[in-house]
Amino acid sequence: MTEKRSRFAIINLFKYAGKFKKYSILAPTFAALEVMFDILIPYLMAKIVDVGIANRDLNYMVRTGMLMVGATLISLVLGVYCAKFATISSAGFAMNLRRAVFNRLQRFAFPNIDRYTTASLVTRMTTDVQFIQQMFQMLTRMFVRAPMMMIMAVFMSLTINRELALVFLVAIPVLGSVFYFIISRAHPLFIKMLTKIDFLNRIVQENLIAIRVVKAFVRHEYENEKFEEAVTELRQAQLRAEKLVTINMPVMMIVMNSCIIAILWFGGNKIIVGEMLPGMLISFLTYTQMIMISLMLFSMVFIMFVISQASVHRVEEVLEEEPTFSDEDGDPNLTVKDGSIEFRHVDLSYAADKSNPVLSDINLSITAGEKVAIIGGTGSGKSSLVQMIPRLYEVTAGEVLVGGHNVKDYKFKPLRDAVAMVLQKNLLFSGTIADNLRWGNQEATEEEMIKACKVAQAHDFIMAFPDGYQTMLGQGGTTVSGGQKQRLCIARALMKQPKIIILDDSTSAIDTATEKKFQQAFRENYQGMTIVIIAQRLQSIQDSDKIIILDDGKVVDIGTHDELVERNLIYREVYESQQEGSLL
Ligand SMILES: Nc1ncnc2c1ncn2[C@@H]1O[C@H](COP(=O)(O)OP(=O)(O)O)[C@@H](O)[C@H]1O
Ligand SMILES: [Mg+2]
Repeated sequence: MTEKRSRFAIINLFKYAGKFKKYSILAPTFAALEVMFDILIPYLMAKIVDVGIANRDLNYMVRTGMLMVGATLISLVLGVYCAKFATISSAGFAMNLRRAVFNRLQRFAFPNIDRYTTASLVTRMTTDVQFIQQMFQMLTRMFVRAPMMMIMAVFMSLTINRELALVFLVAIPVLGSVFYFIISRAHPLFIKMLTKIDFLNRIVQENLIAIRVVKAFVRHEYENEKFEEAVTELRQAQLRAEKLVTINMPVMMIVMNSCIIAILWFGGNKIIVGEMLPGMLISFLTYTQMIMISLMLFSMVFIMFVISQASVHRVEEVLEEEPTFSDEDGDPNLTVKDGSIEFRHVDLSYAADKSNPVLSDINLSITAGEKVAIIGGTGSGKSSLVQMIPRLYEVTAGEVLVGGHNVKDYKFKPLRDAVAMVLQKNLLFSGTIADNLRWGNQEATEEEMIKACKVAQAHDFIMAFPDGYQTMLGQGGTTVSGGQKQRLCIARALMKQPKIIILDDSTSAIDTATEKKFQQAFRENYQGMTIVIIAQRLQSIQDSDKIIILDDGKVVDIGTHDELVERNLIYREVYESQQEGSLL
């Protein structure tokens, strides 16, 4: 996929310069002016030697010397401005690019997110964008300067002495082939290096997220080994890639010094026979240096260009990733009328290959205000099933209806406001408890917040903190216990006043007595709100209007607790074993 893209893909990204475009034009313009003054200097120097010194004309020497100083100063000022404009434009460009990537990520649907690792996305937004930024800055500064310097210096040396300029005929092809060699080899090595950076980021990130688990299992030796492996591999990849690029410099120096020796030899002979003046030879040497420097800049720009290709492709891949589904076709005026849910012949597969679906032929009908429980072994598809209700995943076949309409007919916002979901893997953000709760609903009043917390059985423990609702939570909510976190997440969802609330194993860390209180309080305070609950403990779902048993992606039975105890062997066995457990 990457191979097919254009080698000049960075040009596609130039549009992100946006309102900084004028600086990306000013920078090369100033660079061009700077080169003109630079070119003047050796010319003036030759005049001082050949005219001033030769004629012992002190006046001429001073005047020309002043011109030289003037040209140098002007070139310096122009150079500073060129660098300044290049910095402004590249920083602005990078900001716009990061913004574009971030906006795109925000539009991703769950299946898009599944496709990338978090670490890889982070690398793309940081390291890759930085590479491209450097490339962009280099381009704005060198793209015009290098060829211009080369052309003007070649022109000047031709005017000084055509024969002597033949030396370049040898030097330039030699350098050209060396650069070509380096550039063609560098590309794959740098791509490899970037994947190693990804790998390292992933390991570090996983380790940090799971640092408590690592400690609890005393796995730090193992984690260290993994890390060691990742950094070593990165080091090796970096060495391999950089080694190639560093050949560039010594080759340059050898060719340049050989040129200088050749020019001194041939030029010296010309001076001896009187075909050339010493000042001319000095300036010729300076122009030779300029030509070599411009070639070196060229090669550096090209190498950077190649290096940044990998990054450009990785960033473009995200920018071009179309959300697998969006709410574009949703009716902006449609709101969820009630909390009824219907599944009609629903299939779901995560993989592109639809032959082996995770869920197949699901048919369900849930009336508004019902309490529905879903049970089944791990991997039976419970989470997958409920995630289709707020359209976090899209059905592969069939349809899901909420409030009498296909979920595809709604915009995301009204649908997901009406269907609150407490995910199995839940997250709180750093900030106060109140901030976190309001995250679900900015407009909620103090009373609504307290009501939600009371129902979720969170109010009492919140008030037990010295700062109450203003208590600061650590990153990811680490300062509260698992059960407290679950209750806060339930409260956050309730604050949205949804028509449907889905609890995906969200009461697993809450003790049975507290859970009972929650269920009761919920029934009393949120009548009419449909509740879909995935739970392991049958005790907490006995009073459900419907219990759905899932096995291997299929609905095997639906009924009330009494009906299922009566007719479903597996349900009865599980129920009895849990009864015994609770008696012990
Ligand atoms: N995002 C996903 N991408 C690919 N496969 C998934 C994804 N989520 C779940 N699965 C697979 O779907 C099956 C059902 O998973 P899930 O719905 O999470 O089951 P449950 O919640 O009942 O434990 C499992 O085999 C799981 O590996
Ligand atoms: Mg699950």
